[in-house]
Amino acid sequence: MLDNAPGKKQRQIEAKLVGEDAFTSKRKKGREAERGMSDELDDFVQELQDQILEEAKRSYGDVVLDRWLNPLHAGTINDPDGYGCVTGSCGDTMQVFLKFENDRVNEAKFQTDGCGTTMVCGSFAAELAIGKNPDQLVEITGETILEVLGGLPESERHCAYLAAETLQEALNDYMVKQTRKEPRR
Ligand code: FES
Repeated sequence: MLDNAPGKKQRQIEAKLVGEDAFTSKRKKGREAERGMSDELDDFVQELQDQILEEAKRSYGDVVLDRWLNPLHAGTINDPDGYGCVTGSCGDTMQVFLKFENDRVNEAKFQTDGCGTTMVCGSFAAELAIGKNPDQLVEITGETILEVLGGLPESERHCAYLAAETLQEALNDYMVKQTRKEPRR
């Protein structure tokens, strides 16, 4: 007996379409599941970030947290009038760059390879330096920076001292250069 060729072909096409439909719907479901997982992951990461920020706020306070999120005066200055570079006992290094105009700091920048707290301290050291003359700069100590920050946990107070020490080294460099510029008698 002859096969009913057109009928068989039709059934094959229909079977293929049903198969493809099932495959398409499986893929769609897979994509939806993936999307669901990625949303969950995003929520989880967001939650974790919020927790970290909340924890940081509790430990360090608003001033430190704000500056940590938005570090001002980070960078370098080409051909600075005063430059300091100090490596602390923890192994972190801080650099401070000062530019003076009429014997006052008109630009200050810092750079560090240290932790977030070191960065915050460098940022405040630079900020405190702007507008000051050498006599006023000498007054900026680790304690001054700690006071502005509202204090730091004991284990991180040294970050403020490193920033102040580096600022003083930059001032010292400026003073030495100034002395060399003075006309010899
Ligand atoms: S941890 Fe080393 S200076 Fe902050």
